[in-house]
Amino acid sequence: MHKRKLGNSNLEVSALGLGCMGMSMSYGLPMEKPAAIALIRAAVERGVTFFDTAEVYGPFVNEELVGEALAPFRGQVVIATKFGFNIDPGKRLQSGLNSRPEHIRQVAEASLKRLKVDAIDLFYQHRVDPEVPIEDVAGAVKALIAQGKVKHFGLSEPGVQTVRRAHAVQPVTAIQSEYSLWWREPEQELLPALEELGIGFVPFSPLGKGFLTGAIDENTQFVSTDFRNVVPRFNAEARKANLAVVEPLRRIAARRQVTPAQIALAWLLAQKPWIVPIPGTTKLNRLDENNAAADLQLSAADLQEIEQAVSQISLQGERYPEALLKMVGR
Ligand SMILES: NC(=O)c1ccc[n+]([C@@H]2O[C@H](COP(=O)([O-])OP(=O)(O)OC[C@H]3O[C@@H](n4cnc5c(N)ncnc54)[C@H](OP(=O)(O)O)[C@@H]3O)[C@@H](O)[C@H]2O)c1
Repeated sequence: MHKRKLGNSNLEVSALGLGCMGMSMSYGLPMEKPAAIALIRAAVERGVTFFDTAEVYGPFVNEELVGEALAPFRGQVVIATKFGFNIDPGKRLQSGLNSRPEHIRQVAEASLKRLKVDAIDLFYQHRVDPEVPIEDVAGAVKALIAQGKVKHFGLSEPGVQTVRRAHAVQPVTAIQSEYSLWWREPEQELLPALEELGIGFVPFSPLGKGFLTGAIDENTQFVSTDFRNVVPRFNAEARKANLAVVEPLRRIAARRQVTPAQIALAWLLAQKPWIVPIPGTTKLNRLDENNAAADLQLSAADLQEIEQAVSQISLQGERYPEALLKMVGR
């Protein structure tokens, strides 16, 4: 797979990374560990060098999984993880934001152990903590970088002013926020600011949590623990209406003899050369399907057709439940 650089940083990664969250939580049942390890290693064999996890995924178990799976490939792959939540160790439950510097330092030490690495390649603040000035957060990560414990700094779902303030203290390598054909808000302010500042962009949920692949419709039943059960954009009525966004992807996919998932990923790659999407999957055949999108060049006519079709659709339902919506864009 060809490589991309995240902004002006020297961090070079495969054009598509692998989101590992869904292997441990959020969608359906968690994978059995041996199968998940085999999947992550298969991704390495196929040229994926960028893996996404977080302390809070599981919590903890996803970092442990990624650490174990990638232990034989240390130095050859880039592992991104995230701090910023309080986690009750007994109940293993997330209980609010915490980006206090002493907490960031503790999380870094624990993540280093779980990931079995000497340095965290890319350490993102998972959500902006309104209780802690971003300068203090950036300062804490800067100190970890000076100690050699972290290599690159990132933020997830920050507002543009927060990015600028953080970047002034410690240059930011990448922002990770939701971006896909059904969530295009980053185009308004965020992407122009990242281009100006030379910061890379890592779209999460690039397949719209699976919706843009065409594998989901209003009749799809999710298991009771599936996060999509509480996402307004995934209630049955919204799904029915939102299938309109899949229709042009299916049409262009049929013409190009590819799949809607591949069109959705190729569209993201076509937006900017410093964008690196991180689709998630628990299945080897889908890993191969998604990876093949890195070689799919959409023509100007394809892109125009997508733009024209999608801009006319009014998508139904918020992308997060209310409590989680409050945490983004700050
Ligand atoms: N920073 C943050 O706050 C944040 C938030 C969410 C996610 N993330 C990161 O971003 C990564 C990706 O996002 P995501 O997992 O939310 O969403 P996504 O990549 O848009 O979609 C994942 C879903 O799509 C399905 N899927 C994948 N490839 C498919 C294909 N070719 N055909 C049909 N279905 C397919 C997967 O199911 P199967 O497993 O059955 O294939 C899974 O349910 C995560 O793993 C995580 O690392 C970060």
